[in-house]
Amino acid sequence: MVCLGNICRSPLAEGIIKSKLSNNFIVDSAGTANYHSGSAPDKRSIAVARKHGLDISNLKGRQFNVLDFDTFDFIYVMDESNFQNVIKLARHEDDIAKVKLILNEVHPNKNHEVPDPYYGGDYGFENVYQMLDEACDIIAKNLL
Ligand code: 4NP
Repeated sequence: MVCLGNICRSPLAEGIIKSKLSNNFIVDSAGTANYHSGSAPDKRSIAVARKHGLDISNLKGRQFNVLDFDTFDFIYVMDESNFQNVIKLARHEDDIAKVKLILNEVHPNKNHEVPDPYYGGDYGFENVYQMLDEACDIIAKNLL
């Protein structure tokens, strides 16, 4: 699960998809930027997760890196800008094929984005939670 800062959207996506999958899956999140490496998720993401019964408070931000293409079969990005930043690191077509806009799982080929809630109010975080929950339901069902 990849966003820009790895403190708002992608840690929430990580918590949600983990709650829907067994422990047989390797799940992680990362940011394309390194501003928040080592930081806990934004307190508003922690709060909205907690409201829905998930604890993401122990997650730590990290930057996406090229080795993630080897570790993971699927790389879900939140928006077009994350997509471009991840693709820049791809080494070949197989890497590129792993990268998907997460909301295309819900609305195929529409290229809808999960809005960055960082500068918005709490409603933004609940809205992001609902979008990610719907997408993660589909992702988990397809993997099981
Ligand atoms: P995220 O949100 O990409 O969903 O984690 C952001 C968090 C921090 C910043 C931007 C987006 N920032 O500019 O610090």
